[in-house]
Amino acid sequence: MILVTGATGNVGRGVAEQLLAAGQEVRALTRNPDRAHLPAGAEVIRGDLSEPETLPPALEGVTAAFLYAVPGTAPAFLKAAKDAGVRRVVLLSSLAVDDDAEVQPNFIAAFHAVIEDAIEESGIEWTFVRPGAFDTNAYQWLGQVKAGDVVRLPFGEAVTAPIHEADIAAVAVQALTSDGHAGARYQLTGPQALTLSAQVQAVGEAIGRPLRLEEVSPEAARQAMIQHVPEHIVDTIMDLQAKSVGREAFVTDTVEKVTGRPARTFAQWAADHADDFR
Ligand SMILES: NC(=O)c1ccc[n+]([C@@H]2O[C@H](COP(=O)([O-])OP(=O)(O)OC[C@H]3O[C@@H](n4cnc5c(N)ncnc54)[C@H](OP(=O)(O)O)[C@@H]3O)[C@@H](O)[C@H]2O)c1
Repeated sequence: MILVTGATGNVGRGVAEQLLAAGQEVRALTRNPDRAHLPAGAEVIRGDLSEPETLPPALEGVTAAFLYAVPGTAPAFLKAAKDAGVRRVVLLSSLAVDDDAEVQPNFIAAFHAVIEDAIEESGIEWTFVRPGAFDTNAYQWLGQVKAGDVVRLPFGEAVTAPIHEADIAAVAVQALTSDGHAGARYQLTGPQALTLSAQVQAVGEAIGRPLRLEEVSPEAARQAMIQHVPEHIVDTIMDLQAKSVGREAFVTDTVEKVTGRPARTFAQWAADHADDFR
């Protein structure tokens, strides 16, 4: 039995689906089973990584676990996992983690690094899946795309190599189900560097309607974002975007190396999710 936490999320849902397709037994953890709409075939269990007493039933009979990173929850999860005899943990971490840094460069890197350290110390076999920017970040423009042809964002020339959630999931599934991934820190990106403007354009091509990015001031964007996202996270994201303007994006071929198939392009992602934007 494989436990998937974060199973209703962009990545975890794909992990659960791909494990089931590979014939694995899956238990999917969610705080709200009634709203989870998890794939048929998964055993759905109510649990909360912040409520340690919910973990032993979720981990009973589990040999490997896909872990979604919730700050402050790793020690209790790892204790329960060891007590249950879990042999392997695959963490959804972040490319932001810097192995060479004495102090992690930002909040996102820091909270993932703390969880990675706890897993390393636990003695359980581990793999860290460290993706960079997700293709799904484009969902932040959903309202603007539905309302018109202009997406107003700061840093239109910020460059990343965004990754499809199905490719992150595919790497995690390999690490959960096959040998040879213990101790790996997989840095994952999509196949090509793209500006935010090019991503907006690609969504337009997928939905058959020309879209363009119009730059707004970082401060205006910040004010809008802090209505929905904690301020320290907004500041980290804005800082990362500002630093990626005009820079060459870091691109890896790890998805292909681990899964045997090339990473999906952003255009593919936009086609896969075009209906969401219509
Ligand atoms: N977006 C990016 O560009 C990017 C880049 C690199 C790394 N990351 C990392 O990737 C992760 C985001 O992945 P995602 O997009 O797949 O997530 P997501 O779609 O935002 O989903 C969040 C998931 O976490 C679960 N969850 C949250 N709090 C929980 C708790 N206390 N106990 C149990 N489950 C909990 C939710 O489950 P329920 O609500 O069903 O309980 C849900 O399945 C974050 O760690 C982020 O830092 C993101």
